[in-house]
Amino acid sequence: MKKIKVLFVCLGNICRSPTAHGVFAKLVFERGLDELIEVESAGTHAYHVGKSPDKRSQAVALKRGVDLSALRGRKVSADDFEYYDYILAMDASNLSHLRQECPVEFEGKLKLFLGFAAGVSEQEVPDPYYGGSDGFDYVMDLVESASLGLIEVIRKEI
Ligand code: 4NP
Repeated sequence: MKKIKVLFVCLGNICRSPTAHGVFAKLVFERGLDELIEVESAGTHAYHVGKSPDKRSQAVALKRGVDLSALRGRKVSADDFEYYDYILAMDASNLSHLRQECPVEFEGKLKLFLGFAAGVSEQEVPDPYYGGSDGFDYVMDLVESASLGLIEVIRKEI
């Protein structure tokens, strides 16, 4: 069976994309699909390479049973565009950065993550970094919805 590889992308890879990484990996594990779906996250910028997820993201995720503590920041690399099947941006700016770097033949892999969220009018996961704790809870809500939609789409492929 073909393995499906998913890369979540935000700016810093310390708030939104690690949250998506942790939430989606847990869903994959709970459904017994971890041999078939590979999950990773990365940032468009290198500010936080090697760093743990933001403490606020970790706290909100842990409240909902998702442990992000083992994740470490990394930047998107040129090889990622060929390797991953789904390259999912948190916002339009992330998507625009990805489009600038992505070889034309892989452009179809680039999408906004919230396109998979049923019943959510937002198209972008807002950057919570400079805001209060509400923003981190909201990120978690959006990420949970989109992750549920994404896993159903991928399930049909495997
Ligand atoms: P993220 O949030 O893209 O969701 O990881 C941010 C983290 C850091 C910065 C911006 C956004 N920053 O400017 O350092």
